[in-house]
Amino acid sequence: MEFKINFSGTGHRYTKEEIDTVVEAMQNADPLTQGKYRDAFEKKFCEYNENEYSFSLCNATAALELAAQMCLFKDGDEIVTPSHTFTSSVYPFVKKGAKVVWADIDFDTRVVTLETIKKCITSKTKAIVVVHLYGFIIPDIQKIADFAKESNILLIEDVAQAMGTSIEGKKAGTFGDFGIFSFHSHKNITTLGEGGMLTVKEKKYADIIPMLRHNGHCGFDYEREHYWQPAMGELDLPNLNGENLLPNNYCLGEVECALGGKLLDRIDEMNAQKRERAVKFIDALKEFDDLVFHKVADDRHNYHLLVAYVKNGKRDEIMKKLVYEKKIKCVVQYYPLNRYPLYQKLGFGEANCPNADEFFDNMISFPFQHWMSDEDFLYMLEATQEVMIELK
Ligand SMILES: Cc1ncc(COP(=O)(O)O)c(C=O)c1O
Repeated sequence: MEFKINFSGTGHRYTKEEIDTVVEAMQNADPLTQGKYRDAFEKKFCEYNENEYSFSLCNATAALELAAQMCLFKDGDEIVTPSHTFTSSVYPFVKKGAKVVWADIDFDTRVVTLETIKKCITSKTKAIVVVHLYGFIIPDIQKIADFAKESNILLIEDVAQAMGTSIEGKKAGTFGDFGIFSFHSHKNITTLGEGGMLTVKEKKYADIIPMLRHNGHCGFDYEREHYWQPAMGELDLPNLNGENLLPNNYCLGEVECALGGKLLDRIDEMNAQKRERAVKFIDALKEFDDLVFHKVADDRHNYHLLVAYVKNGKRDEIMKKLVYEKKIKCVVQYYPLNRYPLYQKLGFGEANCPNADEFFDNMISFPFQHWMSDEDFLYMLEATQEVMIELK
């Protein structure tokens, strides 16, 4: 089916300067991975996001895998995490041995709260994975971080969708032990389709991540007479709290890192432009009570996605008109993970998350790329108004 407005998988269009940055790195990077562009990107990211340590990775899922590995799960350990999220917020932790307890979302903000998390805490809880979903920083994030610290529980913040958001000037990804960022094709900034960042607070994690992400490579801890003796480089097992960990290869290439650094110059501007448009869309539809948006007109939201809850069971009627008559490709997101065979087969099919279920079953997500033209944006707005008038 041909759409007038597609739900594009590309969130971002590059400027000439950004393209020039890529070409420059293609011509000059030596080697093409793990060189000066990586170091510059990580340094700039730390400055931008006010993190102590940042490590570029091939995607956010790799960052979640490393965070999960550093949780050092033992038999029976549990994580608490929302069911209403993207799958890779969760399965990396299952791979490393954690059991999943699903936390519900708050109905109005569509993210977890301290209260919904507390309901899931047991003596076995080792980690909490929170997700700043749709680009909205969790209002309770400071309280959740304080609670996790008091309770000796690790906190992982999945900031894949919410880069650049903050509460009272404190950025998403600076509250927890681990911060996870994505530069996937669909995100507000993308390093050529794939890319991620892992931020950590503590030196003990920062010390082992270079080895964990790159095959256990490390330097020799003694002076050598010749650089090729006894070998070109050393391999060892990264050690955390007395435990040896097996390494991975999750590096991000130099060209992507060069671009990532450049895109940091524009992320705030792009977030602000998306937010301004989202607020315009929401305000223009406010007379239609059946569509319930989450309006936030400041830095707490970057509107990575523009979603609404549809009241009175009208979701599918509205979707059908928008999709088949107006040719606007709206979608529905995020199927509660406990309802997928993948999690059911792993034994995590049970959840007590009525808000997540109710929201998913009645939600609609509008196509909302940063590069959408004013003409297309206006078309989508007027078409939605027309549909809502018809269905009043
Ligand atoms: C909330 C969330 N977490 C994690 C990820 C995984 O990101 P990546 O594709 O960079 O691995 C995504 C990507 O869509 C996401 O939306």
